[in-house]
Amino acid sequence: MDLNRREIRLCASMLCADAGHLRRDIEQINTAGVDWMHIDVMDGHFVPNMTGGLDVADCIREASAAPCCFHLMVRDPLRSVKRLKLRPGERAAFHLENTAEPESLAAAIRGSGAFAGMAVNPGTPVTRILPHLDCLDYLLVLIVNPGFKGQPMIPRTLDKLRRLREERDRRGLPIRFLVDGAVTPENMLEIVSAGADDLVCGPFTCFNEALGGIGPTLALVKDRLEAGGYLLSPRAKGGERP
Ligand code: DX5
Ligand code: ZN
Repeated sequence: MDLNRREIRLCASMLCADAGHLRRDIEQINTAGVDWMHIDVMDGHFVPNMTGGLDVADCIREASAAPCCFHLMVRDPLRSVKRLKLRPGERAAFHLENTAEPESLAAAIRGSGAFAGMAVNPGTPVTRILPHLDCLDYLLVLIVNPGFKGQPMIPRTLDKLRRLREERDRRGLPIRFLVDGAVTPENMLEIVSAGADDLVCGPFTCFNEALGGIGPTLALVKDRLEAGGYLLSPRAKGGERP
């Protein structure tokens, strides 16, 4: 396979949107076009930070043209899965570090028709991840420690991503790798070439007054990927249809 002709899918990050202008930011993201709306759900226990909770997640979900991609940084991910009433086409990822039963959580997510993901922290070794790849639709590979936006990438996480990709290719697994955290204009092509299929576009989802909003920053990430020889999905390319 020509790795540079792969289709790369894009997530907007709601954590990086302006909480005081969520509707404006979601509308701009809808117009620009992304594949997923990434919603970080934090309960202040699994990570030392909190987000708006499942009611806010529901509001984002209703306003978003793209399906939601939930990242569950919570003590009880099964409870969030049940409460969210996941819909076909959505995605949800629990953390490996937070469950003794990844297979049954993945089955609960898939049972609602959604795609099942497992998130892994930078410090979690590859050997602990490999036994669970078969039960997943995607692996969320964090390249920062979870909980906060705006942190720098931990460089050794890219070696881990390369090792995971080698194993996926060797076993021929149909699993996608979603890289989350610290995806910047400077490092995004390196991340994709290390094995990312999907990117959470954190800084690209920040409203930028000088550039005229979110559309131009998302256009930047798309332009760079296409210039690097990668493909975009029709949804990411076209934005919302009137
Ligand atoms: C980190 C979150 C990320 C967040 C990353 O805990 O899971 O989804 O959006 O923000 P940046 O891209 O600023 O690192
Ligand atoms: Zn996330």
